[in-house]
Amino acid sequence: MKIAVLSRAPRAYSTQRLRAAALDRGHEVKVLNTLRFGIDLTGDEPDLQFRGRRLSTYDAVLPRIGASITYFGTAVVRQFEQMDVYTPNTSYGIANSRDKLRATQILSKHEIGMPRTTFVRDRADIKAAVERVGGAPVVIKLLEGTQGIGVILAPDVKVAEAVIETLQSTQQNVLIQEFIAESRGRDIRALVVGDRVVAAMRRSAQGDEFRSNVHRGGSVEAVRLDPAFEAAAVRSAQIMGLRVAGVDMLESDRGPLVMEVNSSPGLEGIERATELDVAGAIIDYVAGQVDFPEIDVRQRLTVSTGYGVAELEVHAGHAMVGKTLEESGLRERDVTVLTLHRGTSVVPNPTGPSVLEAGDRLLCFGKLEEMRSMVAPKRRRRAKVKKLPEQALEHPEG
Ligand SMILES: Nc1ncnc2c1ncn2[C@@H]1O[C@H](COP(=O)(O)OP(=O)(O)O)[C@@H](O)[C@H]1O
Ligand SMILES: [Mg+2]
Repeated sequence: MKIAVLSRAPRAYSTQRLRAAALDRGHEVKVLNTLRFGIDLTGDEPDLQFRGRRLSTYDAVLPRIGASITYFGTAVVRQFEQMDVYTPNTSYGIANSRDKLRATQILSKHEIGMPRTTFVRDRADIKAAVERVGGAPVVIKLLEGTQGIGVILAPDVKVAEAVIETLQSTQQNVLIQEFIAESRGRDIRALVVGDRVVAAMRRSAQGDEFRSNVHRGGSVEAVRLDPAFEAAAVRSAQIMGLRVAGVDMLESDRGPLVMEVNSSPGLEGIERATELDVAGAIIDYVAGQVDFPEIDVRQRLTVSTGYGVAELEVHAGHAMVGKTLEESGLRERDVTVLTLHRGTSVVPNPTGPSVLEAGDRLLCFGKLEEMRSMVAPKRRRRAKVKKLPEQALEHPEG
């Protein structure tokens, strides 16, 4: 394959290792400075310029987008996607994982263990927010911090309020998070490639520091991951739309707690700690996937008028409960089931004999009009308003 590594640091360890791994395997590889691209929207087809000239054809792109250039970098990756060039990390995944709040919001829908997290803007709401995550001490994080910068431990509500106010006064948004004391300055970094963890290490903070980042002096050692940690890492990466990711987890009394999913994980620390060829695993994975560029399914499937994608929930008491997909009548109504979600498991392309259970969710493609009647009514919060009494209220004089 012909692959481009997008990086502003051609000499950095990670870039060098990826380049060498690709060459070793007989691939053609170029390291291209992300900031030298021009996104060309003038012609009939989406196109890219590089250093002012039309970019040649690539089979795959491996983005390593630094936090300081997220906007432009993800725009370049998005353009490669439009040109059907395979990327293991989508522009969407990179942008979402960059923002700690956005990432937490996305993961929170999928039963991934995370430290209790909350986000408020007004000073008056900070005290209640601290209580909600379990009380002080709490961790305060800048939404877009990296390398441990912008991660602060506040011992009490007063300090939390002062820190948050100071940061907000410089237009920085922060989230408030439960402090996981039992992890004692340690965390797990799992390197996910495709649907498995290819290497993992434990990082331990120096002295009384609670942040284990290598940039904060943390030390690293290889670990064998418990299956629960492996599953949490792989699922988090997949949900975020990242096929190459560094997933950071805390070891808590209630199991793995995912803190963040990094879309451009550094390779130096983990390769040194584990002596594993992580760069090679990434290149091999990409080479195996080049024929399947990422497709925005919803976008592609909704081009026929009247058709679309919807998730149908099989609620208790529904006529479909206990029936097989074949007997469900969906096919006759021109509705195709793409996946069946049950708890945390997913059955792709479920076939006729699968028996439906209450709580199943079916991702379907079909006629919107047909599906409308089957979509579960939106769960509404119970109204706080009292029911009107049977008897009409007495009207005041008037
Ligand atoms: N809620 C928490 N409880 C305990 N330690 C934490 C918590 N959040 C972060 N840490 C420590 O701080 C480090 C940096 O936090 P992280 O959210 O990964 O930010 P960054 O993006 O700057 O690396 C983590 O690796 C971990 O050691
Ligand atoms: Mg981190």
